[in-house]
Amino acid sequence: MKKIIIDCDPGIDDSLAIMLALNSPEVEVLGITVVAGNSPVELGFDNAKRILSFLGRLDVPVYVGADRPREREYVNALDTHGEDGLGESFLPKVEGQEIPEESAVSFMRRTLKSGDVSVVALGPLTNLAELIDEDRDAFLSIKRLVSMGGNFRSHGNCSPVAEYNYWEDPHSARVVFETLFENHRKLEMVGLDVTRQIVLTPKILLSMKKINPKVGEFVEKITDFYFKFHWEWEHIRGCVINDPLAVAQFIDPDILKGFEAYTDVEIGGISMGQTVVDSMGFYRKESNAVIYTEVDKRAFWEMFLTRLLKVKPKEIETVLKEIN
Ligand code: BDR
Ligand code: CA
Repeated sequence: MKKIIIDCDPGIDDSLAIMLALNSPEVEVLGITVVAGNSPVELGFDNAKRILSFLGRLDVPVYVGADRPREREYVNALDTHGEDGLGESFLPKVEGQEIPEESAVSFMRRTLKSGDVSVVALGPLTNLAELIDEDRDAFLSIKRLVSMGGNFRSHGNCSPVAEYNYWEDPHSARVVFETLFENHRKLEMVGLDVTRQIVLTPKILLSMKKINPKVGEFVEKITDFYFKFHWEWEHIRGCVINDPLAVAQFIDPDILKGFEAYTDVEIGGISMGQTVVDSMGFYRKESNAVIYTEVDKRAFWEMFLTRLLKVKPKEIETVLKEIN
């Protein structure tokens, strides 16, 4: 089994990503670390517990990390994710679940040293930048670092050019990219170019409810708000579910394709949070990122649906036929 830490800010699509990971036999989730992002960090902790409770997996530990970005003022994304961060599903708080004393960064430090553990980062990179400050070797021991964030050719979702996770904390994102560069390492960037192609449509949701009502109705409860948001802002029927694609790519590296490039993050001005991807090699610098640009949508949906709904591919054939 591949060992991972999920660093996240749940968050509607973070929750779907956690569901995918915990339904995947290839993956052992050692812990979930929460960062301030979509939801303030304590709410993110409660939401992670809500999802784990739904999955019957409260044995997975959850740690709390940074409560604000490295330098900039914290701006949550509750306008997108609802006032409870879970699409205004208002699921009850899971009783008896206290925030542990050990911090997210301390958990990462002691867990990553083995060199056998990967990180799938689904929120701003603040916890990882703090880890670099505190223990660079532990950070460099990360086996694979898959990050949902950034954009190459796609427009942004927070500004014309910036994606939320890197826009929220551009300084931390820059520290992470820089440290990887200095140490000849690469981040796998699952950006908006590929995640925008993963749209949970009303039709897919309807099929999910028919095939597995318990899971389908739960997903409907947490995504309904997201559907409305996408219609209002992007005129999309359905919602883009970014974060599960990073988990899927971690499990099956054939789902996404892309190229390697030196990448930096702008930290101020009108382009704040933009990923500057040197695809043409202007800077003559060694690449520190794999930038994904193509997605095998069918493979993603087959993985996502069979695992969440606990069915064989045969049982979702009609749903898959609609995906192009
Ligand atoms: C990212 O920002 C958040 O809103 C989502 O959870 C995802 O991680 C998309 O830009
Ligand atoms: Ca997220």
